[in-house]
Amino acid sequence: MAKRDGGKLNVFVTRKIPQVGLDMLKEASDVVVSPHDRVLSRNELIQGIEGVHGLLCLLTDEITADVMDASPNLKVISNYAVGYNNVDVAAATERGILVTNTPGVLTDATADLAWTLVMSVSRRVVEGDALTRAGEFTGWDPMLLLGGGVAKKTIGIVGMGRIGQAVAKRATGFDMEILYNDIEPVPSIEERYGARFVTLDELLKASDFITLHAPLTPKTRYMIGSREFGLMKETAYLVNTARGPLVDEKALVKALRDKVIAGAGLDVYEDEPELAPGLAELPNVVLLPHLGSATLETRSKMAEMAAANVLAALEGKRPANLVNPEVLDK
Ligand code: DGY
Repeated sequence: MAKRDGGKLNVFVTRKIPQVGLDMLKEASDVVVSPHDRVLSRNELIQGIEGVHGLLCLLTDEITADVMDASPNLKVISNYAVGYNNVDVAAATERGILVTNTPGVLTDATADLAWTLVMSVSRRVVEGDALTRAGEFTGWDPMLLLGGGVAKKTIGIVGMGRIGQAVAKRATGFDMEILYNDIEPVPSIEERYGARFVTLDELLKASDFITLHAPLTPKTRYMIGSREFGLMKETAYLVNTARGPLVDEKALVKALRDKVIAGAGLDVYEDEPELAPGLAELPNVVLLPHLGSATLETRSKMAEMAAANVLAALEGKRPANLVNPEVLDK
């Protein structure tokens, strides 16, 4: 690693991550990990970044231009997530700062969680658990908590990247018809999973389960709102494990309350950690606290990957998971 005045370069980590990543960083740099086990305020973030060469941050940290400007030395922003909508990448590129993410290692964990939500909302698992714990299970009842079946139904996958494909793979095991929408068709996926490319509107009209796997960009923000709920079947379920602002959450509450759709399974929210008014009171929604990548193995791999990205950048090498290659390829 390049040394400054014979010393190690400085890295700031905005919250404790699995030790394996911190150990990698400590070997080669002077690391400061935020002492607060919570999301930092803007001022705390700026103070932590002052003078550092590397930043390892989380999806809960808003890394704007003025935050970056707290350190004229900043060479790399390593986001501990695959999604990087929390980083102003254009501002980083302008400043010659590399931005990296952690793709691939969380694909299976996130696809599994999307399926957990598909199953738990349609089969009313959370309601059943609550009823049983409350001592209200009085014996088998032919009409108790009837839900929607999954096998042989139609699943609509919005965003056929790595995670969307992993969801499609799992859907083949349920003999489902697979529809998908993305910027353009991906013929190899159609062959592999028997998936069919359709417009978003067609997908919304035809699917029994709609699952979102698109990145959050200005184009995808609010891609699902009241017009889109109006297109869905009354028996449809919406699952979101991607980013909350893909969905107009107030419109979702209304659609769930008015039974425009049958239910939803959410791992992400428009204004995390806040929930839209009324959402938590609805029985036909399953709510999780952004657990998509939350397995021990996955979070450790993410830590290794995020640390490796920081170290590569500080050593003047090309990080494996660079999202703004134009900084190096100018
Ligand atoms: C990501 O990596 O973008 C996920 O949301 C974290 O779970």
